[in-house]
Amino acid sequence: MTDSRNSTGWQPDSWQQRPVAQMPSYADAGNLARTLQMLERLPPLVTSWEIEALRDRIAAAQEGRAFVLQGGDCAESFEECTSENIVQKLKILLQMSVVIIAGLRRPVVRLGRMAGQYAKPRSDDSETRNGLTLPSYRGDLVNRMPFTAEDREPSPELILRGYERAALTLNFVRSLIDGGFADLHHPENWDLAFVGHAPQAERYREMVRRVTDGLAFFESITGSRIHEAQRVDFFASHEALHLHYEQAQTRFLRHRSRWYNLTTHFPWLGARTARLDGAHVEYLRGVANPVGVKVGPAVTPESLLHLIGILNPGNEPGRLTLIHRFGVSRIAESLPPLIRAARDAGARVLWMCDPMHGNTEVLNSGVKTRRFDNILGELDIAFRIHAEHGRELGGVHLELTGDHVTECIGGARGLSESDLHQAYRTQVDPRLNYEQAMEVAMRIADRGASATHV
Ligand code: PEP
Ligand code: CO
Repeated sequence: MTDSRNSTGWQPDSWQQRPVAQMPSYADAGNLARTLQMLERLPPLVTSWEIEALRDRIAAAQEGRAFVLQGGDCAESFEECTSENIVQKLKILLQMSVVIIAGLRRPVVRLGRMAGQYAKPRSDDSETRNGLTLPSYRGDLVNRMPFTAEDREPSPELILRGYERAALTLNFVRSLIDGGFADLHHPENWDLAFVGHAPQAERYREMVRRVTDGLAFFESITGSRIHEAQRVDFFASHEALHLHYEQAQTRFLRHRSRWYNLTTHFPWLGARTARLDGAHVEYLRGVANPVGVKVGPAVTPESLLHLIGILNPGNEPGRLTLIHRFGVSRIAESLPPLIRAARDAGARVLWMCDPMHGNTEVLNSGVKTRRFDNILGELDIAFRIHAEHGRELGGVHLELTGDHVTECIGGARGLSESDLHQAYRTQVDPRLNYEQAMEVAMRIADRGASATHV
């Protein structure tokens, strides 16, 4: 599994020599260049120590010793960079992780789709309404949602505004965590106002009790507190889509002799920018961060092995996470050949399931949604297929919010098509609401329970 290009010719800007998909076109190249120079001078958002810690955690998950929970908005928005939103997102991820820890009896690595998830791939470069054609909205890092020529014009200024908001988000998350907010001894910190009314409340409390009792038992025999060992308990991730943004904070760290993307711990490659000879693959092959790769119906065993060879030529543990997203109707057919190909090649990868992006549908009303049953269905099949291939599924990738939105159909409250208008707030893809997200966590926990009885 080698690729001759891997060791040669890479630079933070070598992607610019490759075909590049999904990049905005800026009218004023000089303005873009000046903005990127400003961005380059700013301090980074994350450090290589944290990135290396995450790589170790992912390597542990690869061996079945941890489970990765990656989740957050499809697209963060500048407007929603508020104290309340950040706390809600952290709370739901913490609550879900407690449930998963209790069920799987494995540590959970929490990876937010957060602090930089501001750029989105789109099917079309432009959008036409009433005879007027304007550039598509590509996320707040690029342009603005309202359908006016001024809002839709890509603006370099927004790149800086995005970087600053990513820094504010991460700063607040770190403060919360350093202050003890994420401490497993105090799950009462994460109670959301409506948790008491949720259908799963009783079961959740029971699982929290199990985890806190387990901690107390462990600490009583070892005489030490568990959480203090872990400085960073929460990691940030976003799609590495806007390559100018990624490049500007890509640095060579002499003490490690490697290049790092310091805008995030975990950049991932989206399904629409996965062309093997394309710019996004070229960029990602040169940075030392652990990287994710979305694996969809277009991927064949051959192309997967080729991609693995490009992105992880040294077969390093923790470097590569494959996030499959086929949809409930295709996973059973599409996934097994890929698992076998990677396994037979001896590739060290972590497999995760994204049960969201293959299950998106557009209703007659034009509203984008996902059916909760299809999400759970794809997840169940993923667990089964990985177990049949001799390894547990290593993680999940979800679009969710800690709020009570109505964007996905189904769940314990049986949300129907006609309920969606009540609180449909996503800017791009439909997210699980609080209760649906908890239900997914419980389902994952159940898999742990059933696996131990096999
Ligand atoms: C996403 O994760 O929001 C996304 C666009 O996913 P994919 O690249 O898998 O379609
Ligand atoms: Co999405």
